[in-house]
Parts: sequence; C-alpha cells; structure tokens
Amino acid sequence: MPRQRIPTGIKGLDEIISGGFEEGKTYLVTGETGTGKTIFSLQFLLHGISLGENAIFLTIDENPDHLIDDAESLGWDLKKPIDEGKFLILDMNRYFSIGREIESISENIFYELRKYVEKINAKRIVVDPLVPPVLITGDSQKIRKHIKYFIAYLDQLSCTSIVTSEIPAGSNKLSRYGVEEAFVSGIIVLSLIRQDTRYVRALLVRKMRGTPLDLVYQSFTIQPRHGIVLAGPMT
Ligand SMILES: Nc1ncnc2c1ncn2[C@@H]1O[C@H](COP(=O)(O)OP(=O)(O)OP(=O)(O)O)[C@@H](O)[C@H]1O
Ligand SMILES: [Mg+2]
Repeated sequence: MPRQRIPTGIKGLDEIISGGFEEGKTYLVTGETGTGKTIFSLQFLLHGISLGENAIFLTIDENPDHLIDDAESLGWDLKKPIDEGKFLILDMNRYFSIGREIESISENIFYELRKYVEKINAKRIVVDPLVPPVLITGDSQKIRKHIKYFIAYLDQLSCTSIVTSEIPAGSNKLSRYGVEEAFVSGIIVLSLIRQDTRYVRALLVRKMRGTPLDLVYQSFTIQPRHGIVLAGPMT
C-alpha cells in the first residue's frame, strides 16, 4: 500500500511530487552555500507544526538564536511554537569537542534525538547540516559510515526527515561526500542559475522514490512569510 504523503509546505512543490514526501522517509536537500537549504528546512517544519505535527531542528554549527533571528527576518516566529512545546532546536555542538571519535559522537546524538522525539511526539525532523564543517577535515571513510548510519537511524524513527548537505561551489556533485544521495528516498537540489547578468534561484527534484518526475528546473523566489515559492518550470 502506498505510504501517506507528507506535504512539504513549499508552494508549488507538493503538486509536482504527488502531494509531498512519503511518511517516515528521509530526504536530502542539497546545494551550494546561500541557496536556501535552511529556509527550505524550516518551512517544512513550520508547515508540519501548522498541521499539528511537532518538529525538531537538529543543528551542530548554527547558534539557535541566529536561527530564530534569521527566521524572524522572514516573518516567521519560532519562539511561539518553542514556548508551546511543539518545536525544539537541538544544538549538538557540545558533542563535537576535539579528539572525540565520530562513532561516540553519533551515539550521543542518536540517544538525544530519540529522547526528544518521544518527549514532544515529533513527526518531522531536520538535520542541518548532516555533516558539520568541524568534521570535514576528518577521516572521510568514517564520515561516510556516519552518514549511512545517521540516515538509517532517521528512517527507523517514526518521523519524516530532511538532511542537508552543502555542495562545494562550482562542483557537479550532488552532495559533499557523494554517499548521502544513495541512502535517502529523495533529493531536492537548490541552485543559482546564471541568466545574462543575474542569477535566478532554481529547484530541481533530482530523485523521489515511488514518484513520477519531470526532471526540469523550477525557478523560485524567497518571500517574506511565504518563504520559498516556486514560479514554474524554467524556460
Ligand atoms: N528575509 C529574507 N527575504 C528574502 N530572502 C532572504 C531572507 N533571508 C534570507 N534570504 C535569502 O536566503 C539566502 C540564504 O538562505 P539559507 O540560509 O536557507 O541558505 P543555505 O543554503 O542554508 O546557506 P548555508 O549553506 O550557508 O547554510 C540568503 O542568501 C538570502 O539571499
Ligand atoms: Mg544553512
């Protein structure tokens, strides 16, 4: 039986992915810096909250206060759902002290995440970014293993999840480590596409298991209150 669809809340996107993400699965939102990965992720969580689905934003390198301020610049109030116990920003920075093995960091994060998912009965999770910059110079074999386990772990929780990955500028890769894309159920690529003297924001649904796709870039804007709004296929 097909799984229930979870609407992303991104205007114009749910219509082209058969109603949304599949419930309980994990999705990758990828793109170069400044392409809108964090805004996409927050929009997904806030839409969930508006539907009564509690949400967790797991961050490692972003100060939660900065996230709250950035959201406020878009007209999004994160403090209210936090105060109401519907939304949690989990800052995992403290586990990343120098010299700690990635395996023990992952274990700590999994433990905390499960605890808070149960505590607030969360239905949506974002991990932004999946691999924090502090690990990027580490052993890439171990990081790949961490990515695989993290996505498998998220798939076990009763939540629909987004993980983000930053693509190095100018590369043709889909993710930083080249393994994230294989383990997720779908991939959204956010880009800046040059048109004459300017750049246009574009979104491509690159992979979506169980969903027919038209592989065409959709242009989008970032608007106060609405966040990411798709404007249709690029010509
Ligand atoms: N209030 C706003 N109104 C319109 N556009 C905004 C607003 N706030 C941010 N933006 C745009 O969104 C872009 C950043 O989006 P976001 O932080 O989601 O990117 P990101 O892909 O997460 O970047 P990074 O990889 O650095 O974390 C900014 O560069 C800016 O152009
Ligand atoms: Mg970001």
